[in-house]
Amino acid sequence: MANPGTTLHDFVVVSNRLPVDHSIADDGSTTWTRSPGGLVAALEPVMRDTAGVWVGWVGRPDVEIAPFEIDGMQLVPIALSELDHEHYYEGFCNDTLWPLYHDVIAPPAYHRVWWERYVAVNQRFADAAAAEAAEGATVWVHDYQLQLVPRMLRESRPDLTIGFFDHIPFPPYGIFAQLPWRTQIVEGLLGADVIGFQRVADAGNFSRAVRRLTAHPTKTPAIEVSWPGQPTRTVIARPFPISVDAAGFETLARRADVQARAKQIREDLGNPRTVMLGVDRLDYTKGIGHRLKAFGELLAEKRVDVESITLVQVASPSRERVEAYVHLRDEIELTVGRINGDFSTISHTAISYHHHGYPREEMVALYLAADILLVTALRDGMNLVAKEYVASRFDEDGVLVLSEFTGASDELKRALLVNPHDIDGVKDAIVAAIRMPARERSARMRAMRKRVIENDVNRWSSNFLHTLEQARAGRYDRIAPQHLPEELEWTIDRRWSN
Ligand code: F6P
Repeated sequence: MANPGTTLHDFVVVSNRLPVDHSIADDGSTTWTRSPGGLVAALEPVMRDTAGVWVGWVGRPDVEIAPFEIDGMQLVPIALSELDHEHYYEGFCNDTLWPLYHDVIAPPAYHRVWWERYVAVNQRFADAAAAEAAEGATVWVHDYQLQLVPRMLRESRPDLTIGFFDHIPFPPYGIFAQLPWRTQIVEGLLGADVIGFQRVADAGNFSRAVRRLTAHPTKTPAIEVSWPGQPTRTVIARPFPISVDAAGFETLARRADVQARAKQIREDLGNPRTVMLGVDRLDYTKGIGHRLKAFGELLAEKRVDVESITLVQVASPSRERVEAYVHLRDEIELTVGRINGDFSTISHTAISYHHHGYPREEMVALYLAADILLVTALRDGMNLVAKEYVASRFDEDGVLVLSEFTGASDELKRALLVNPHDIDGVKDAIVAAIRMPARERSARMRAMRKRVIENDVNRWSSNFLHTLEQARAGRYDRIAPQHLPEELEWTIDRRWSN
């Protein structure tokens, strides 16, 4: 129910995290600053135009704060207790769903108490969103942490238009079927009018799960949902590949101070002929170990020489209390230490390793400094780092080595595509990137930039919201393919349109 007496909103965004970072001043007081993510950049204009509100967690347990405003955006914090944090966030979200949805690279753990907490926390998010939403409002729910929210909202507020976007892969049925609560998750998502996925494959996997687990008829991309006591609804499930704020990255890259910083980075590294870069959350899905193995072997075989090449690896801290992440950090840091011990010289370090997150300016300086960006994820919904690199390289230089298991590889076909499990293949791609003639580098980068600039995050959000509007109005013939690369194009079967 909407809260009588409070200002209600026509547009509500719901995500696990609010788009804010906190910092603690010397006197112990906390200040919040807007985090620089692409999602917030894309949604800000819509939020402003519709006086929208964002519902989410501030990222720390046991913090109860009242709704507040930042840069004209209304934020409604959801409090999570220490136990919510442990069972919902670290447990069910990041030790059950995350590994399950990423090809079981790490074994998922199934615990009933975690599931119960996931249900309870999803209900809390749904109730908070319902309390903010005006009659007939649009609510856009994000990501795997909140898959039950669409159905919960549909039941309490049938007047709402509900969208859901899954930022991570949706697994093939053979893997998804392991989940003891698989039917509840699928029915939870089906509360939405439109369910967006990163790739064609993810949307296909979801439709197959619907067919295996429910009696709802599907005809790609539509699913006819009949729940007891409710009118039959048509739900659209289709890909909307997310992107970055391309213009924002280019603007930063063109700034003289950012370019000076890029030059400084190369100098500080000893001006090697080739700078390679890896930028990831420290996560087992990112294939950091595979990349290090390939680089270590190239050094050992003397196909590359530490005097002329350096790998800068930024591994930002993530989910640090979840066991798989604790082991991963030990493993990666041991490998970095070994490679540096074996190959670095006093003047040249093989791997410059950084367990930090950096502000966007510094990231763009690193992108400009890097001759090669290595993205070797074993599975990744999209991989926005690849698109950020391309968006930043207005000089049309730099080579992207990109895993074919990322969503980005559907679109960035002119990257050097690799199977990260094939270490020899990764090594050959690195050598090819080092040797690539300038003309070929710029031809490839130009083609990739065209794609990223044309399909930036604003286009992504407006495509999604347009589809949502048309779907809710039952105008299925108006939601034909929009700006997807050819291989992603969908044709909507006219029989669904009236
Ligand atoms: O898209 C994947 C995702 O889990 C987002 O939902 C999340 O904001 C980001 O990665 C970082 O993860 P976390 O919020 O667990 O630190």
